[in-house]
Amino acid sequence: MNDDVVLELRDVKVHFSTDEGTVKAVDGVSFSMTRGKTMGLVGESGCGKSVTSQAILRLVPANGKISGAILLNRDGQEPVDIGALDNHSQDIRDIRGKDISMIFQEPMTSFSPLYTMGNQLMETILLHQTPDKSAARTQAVEMLRKVGIADPARRIDEYPHEFSGGMRQRVMIAMALSCSPEILIADEPTTALDVTIQAQVLELMQELQKDFGMSILFITHDLGVVAEMCDEVCVMYLGKIVEKAPVEEIFHNPRHPYTQGLLESIPKIGHKTEGDLKSIEGVVPVPINLKPGCGFCDRCEHKIEGLCDTYNVPTAEVAPGHWARCFLYPEVVEAHNKAVGGEE
Ligand SMILES: Nc1ncnc2c1ncn2[C@@H]1O[C@H](COP(=O)(O)OP(=O)(O)O)[C@@H](O)[C@H]1O
Ligand SMILES: [Mg+2]
Repeated sequence: MNDDVVLELRDVKVHFSTDEGTVKAVDGVSFSMTRGKTMGLVGESGCGKSVTSQAILRLVPANGKISGAILLNRDGQEPVDIGALDNHSQDIRDIRGKDISMIFQEPMTSFSPLYTMGNQLMETILLHQTPDKSAARTQAVEMLRKVGIADPARRIDEYPHEFSGGMRQRVMIAMALSCSPEILIADEPTTALDVTIQAQVLELMQELQKDFGMSILFITHDLGVVAEMCDEVCVMYLGKIVEKAPVEEIFHNPRHPYTQGLLESIPKIGHKTEGDLKSIEGVVPVPINLKPGCGFCDRCEHKIEGLCDTYNVPTAEVAPGHWARCFLYPEVVEAHNKAVGGEE
């Protein structure tokens, strides 16, 4: 594995068995994260973003089955396949929190109302870093200061309900970063916050990324946030990555009709938006009993009959470093012909 790659997903699938059949929430996702950089994972609600991140920490609900490889490339060590670890093994527990941490949309559910913020912050530090309580406390206070909590030595003894939403989100970030993880997964970390606080929290994450040199997997449905935060972007639809490119390419030269649709539905600063803001027709279906063909074709204005609704679409590199899963591009058609030819 290339040293620059900190995490690589290869053909990762998460299939849930339910009474109605198999839900293919994540269906063959591959991407790699570069050390110190931010990868965006974007798509509408229900596309499989959260389940992908749960797979990375092996925290998918019990009815889900993970397959494929999830390779964690720690500095100077052999890569570990997280996909192959036992859910209850010491190895996976070591990885959670120490190598990879996660922050979520709703901080209130990540804290117990019964314990002080300090207790909860110190728990991870005591587990992974130092058994010494007073050293752990000093470190926790320092983390709170870093994330912009004023008077941290006093506030550390307060309870979650004594913090505002934005401040709780800061404490959750402090908790996630307290063991200097190599990778931070942020799943819609600012979606529940108002715009001003959101901007502050994003700025804080960028500062901390510089300080700690970590890689971030930034999950969001909001392309505006992606532009600020990400170096590279994976666009996800119905359990698959439909486009992957450096962030400028996604914004200036989007190839997949789904990405183009997402971009048309974000308001642009300084433009009159009323009336001319488009949204993509229809909704993301539940990925169950899926028909063959492109998952997006029922919502796509460019659908090619007999092709898009018939064959599963491979991905191909349509420009250097820019991958798309769409038959509008000759490179993709060529990849398809090769695959079909190979079967005969
Ligand atoms: N435990 C589960 N059992 C069955 N289906 C599930 C389960 N968890 C998630 N799903 C389904 O997986 C799909 C992807 O969900 P999710 O990853 O949460 O989407 P996103 O984070 O992109 O909004 C959805 O259709 C969702 O209903
Ligand atoms: Mg989600």
